[in-house]
Amino acid sequence: MAYQAVKERYDHMQYRRTGRWGLKLPAVSLGLWHNFGGVDSLETARALIHRSFDLGITHFDLANNYGPPPGSAEENFGRILAQDLRPYRDELIISSKAGYHMWAGPYGDWGSRKYLIASLDQSLKRMGLEYVDIFYSHRMDPNTPLDETMGALDHLVRQGKALYVGISNYSAEKTREAAQILHQLGTPCLIHQPRYHMFDRWIEPDLLRVLGEEGIGCIVFSPLAQGLLTDRYLHEIPEGSRASKAHGFLRPAHITDEKLAKVRRLHDLALARGHSLAQMAVAWVLRHPGMTSALIGASSVQQVEANVAALNNLSFTDDELVQIEAILAG
Ligand SMILES: NC(=O)c1ccc[n+]([C@@H]2O[C@H](COP(=O)([O-])OP(=O)(O)OC[C@H]3O[C@@H](n4cnc5c(N)ncnc54)[C@H](OP(=O)(O)O)[C@@H]3O)[C@@H](O)[C@H]2O)c1
Repeated sequence: MAYQAVKERYDHMQYRRTGRWGLKLPAVSLGLWHNFGGVDSLETARALIHRSFDLGITHFDLANNYGPPPGSAEENFGRILAQDLRPYRDELIISSKAGYHMWAGPYGDWGSRKYLIASLDQSLKRMGLEYVDIFYSHRMDPNTPLDETMGALDHLVRQGKALYVGISNYSAEKTREAAQILHQLGTPCLIHQPRYHMFDRWIEPDLLRVLGEEGIGCIVFSPLAQGLLTDRYLHEIPEGSRASKAHGFLRPAHITDEKLAKVRRLHDLALARGHSLAQMAVAWVLRHPGMTSALIGASSVQQVEANVAALNNLSFTDDELVQIEAILAG
């Protein structure tokens, strides 16, 4: 039977303005980096997308290389879109990116005009879309003039293949430059997508300020440190978890005793405020006034439900914030 989204899907989700622009994103968005590839269950992927949309998650984040194999997450998303979500296209914000290795030779990687334009054409075919809502330069290319990379993004908007453009993993300094080039071209930089979680706070000293000054939105990826900031690894590396999979980007070596000691203390603190650690980690990244969205990943419907429920308590007492700082510093 055809999928029908629940009527109440917009009743509880919070939507936040993306920087100074008109587009609003859900406070929790879903990324398809892991668990949506050719190696994964299409039925689980389908269930994750249905439940997410029913919970008000309107934004699904992809990239050319998500899989494995590369491209297969876009293909699977395209299938689910065609079979179930086609009537809802105008209720969805679908993003893709190019910047990491995608095909052989000098034109399948980094930030040239050749690569970005060819890659978005491939992504659109894989997803069966006429346009993406947001297209990103996935990483700064130190060997291509920023003018060229930003010029390619501007061109794609003018062609109607992307409604908005963004950048990901750019330093504060390069973000400022990119935003200025895009502004001159007449295509604003909508959003930045950096990594941000309790164990990686590189955006705090400069990037957040630059984004505020430039009016650029911020959607942070891996707010749960790929699952480390949850109860997943408290006792062992469970079968089926990201760290247990050969293709998972979280490696067992990343789960050090030092990190686990902090995770256990953070877990206790979360329980004291009526949250799971995953929920506290989501709320913690969303505490910045200019934060647009927490971009989570999930391998089960229950994880999405739990993470969205974090929105029921986004406020932190001063004491809680001090305790988190003390645990992270310890
Ligand atoms: N721009 C970039 O360079 C870049 C880089 C990385 C990611 N991203 C984007 O960010 C998205 C999210 O990244 P991420 O998947 O690393 O995010 P994450 O939310 O930090 O980690 C997701 C993983 O955490 C575990 N998890 C989630 N909710 C849980 C819960 N309630 N309880 C216990 N475990 C839970 C699951 O691990 P298990 O699978 O083990 O269950 C899940 O796969 C990606 O899909 C992608 O769209 C962008």
